[in-house]
Amino acid sequence: MKTTISLIKADIGGWPGHASMHPELIKVAKEELSRAVETGIIKSFYVAHVGDDLELIMSHNRGVGDEEVHKLAWDTFQKGAEKARELKLYGAGQDLLSDAFSGNVKGLGPGSAEMEFTERKSEPLVAFMMDKTEPGAFNLPIFRMFADPFNTAGLVIDPAAHAGFVFEIWDIMENKKVLLRSPEEMYDILALIGAKERYVIKHVFPKEGGKLPPDEPVAVVSTDKLYQIAGKYVGKDDPVALVRAQSGLPALGEVLEPFSFPHLVSGWMRGSHNGPLMPVAMRQAKCTRFDGPPRVVALGFQVHSSLLGEPVDLFDDPAFDMTRTKAQEIADYMRRHGPFEPHRLPLADMEYTTLPGVLERLKDRFEPI
Ligand code: F6R
Ligand code: MG
Ligand code: MG
Repeated sequence: MKTTISLIKADIGGWPGHASMHPELIKVAKEELSRAVETGIIKSFYVAHVGDDLELIMSHNRGVGDEEVHKLAWDTFQKGAEKARELKLYGAGQDLLSDAFSGNVKGLGPGSAEMEFTERKSEPLVAFMMDKTEPGAFNLPIFRMFADPFNTAGLVIDPAAHAGFVFEIWDIMENKKVLLRSPEEMYDILALIGAKERYVIKHVFPKEGGKLPPDEPVAVVSTDKLYQIAGKYVGKDDPVALVRAQSGLPALGEVLEPFSFPHLVSGWMRGSHNGPLMPVAMRQAKCTRFDGPPRVVALGFQVHSSLLGEPVDLFDDPAFDMTRTKAQEIADYMRRHGPFEPHRLPLADMEYTTLPGVLERLKDRFEPI
């Protein structure tokens, strides 16, 4: 029987502002999911948070996009949002964009990353969760894990990884996807995913002829675009991803290594600024400075018989202290640009914009040059 891991998340209220997660919401989620283990909808779960996002990590045998699992997540978010309204948490129910559930959380506001696979003899899996940024923030680290020999030594020296991997890339503006092979088509992959606001890595697959089934993903990223769903600003997408590790895949350390570089991502204050992605422990996942800087948490599991077990908080390690210090230097440097690009995003990418109003007010004062 195959194992499915579903990571479904939503911002259902911040504490205070958009900074962090109220313990009462974690409590509600744990109660709901415990009941679902008893009734057999899921086999196990872990409730996490990053910034103001509630993260439901669930294991089961129902496959990807299962209606019962999605309904469970939706109902849990609804229950949590009720609690958030009672406590008058900030933006209570923010990501729940519809009143009615229709079989799947897709298009309703929450984000999801799910994959179904045949468990190996041992199955290390990392759940990555980001706050104050967008799905394209995963492009650089996922590329480095599965395609960059300067990051992943195994691509060069492990015969089981040497053939490379297949990347499924989505054009999230035109709703199209393409499969590209690495290393053969590496430059084409980079040509697309460097434009991270449009082209995002959705899945990574093993190549045919190796140890792993080529149709079972080894990595998956959420690609939900909240602003396109709602047609107006309703908060950042705050993406999540699942990555399997070891024995022919990048080793755990190769999966984490890309995050030692705090690359610039878009999001941060008002979803309208570029800033460094800072890897942190869950206890440090509070977005305080200028509502950020954007953060990523990594929880590592040893999945066994479709059970998650307890996670290890992987960035809770002094080995990432230097990255955090560097991220803060970059945050300082970027902040000094104030409202100027490239700290503030270009107009097309800004989620809050006063420009139409400014132009309207000034329209009679503009003269031909
Ligand atoms: C960014 C984010 C925050 C808010 C900001 C203003 O994704 O959630 O930076 O955009 O705190 O929030 P409002 O407009 O709700 O006062
Ligand atoms: Mg929020
Ligand atoms: Mg958030």
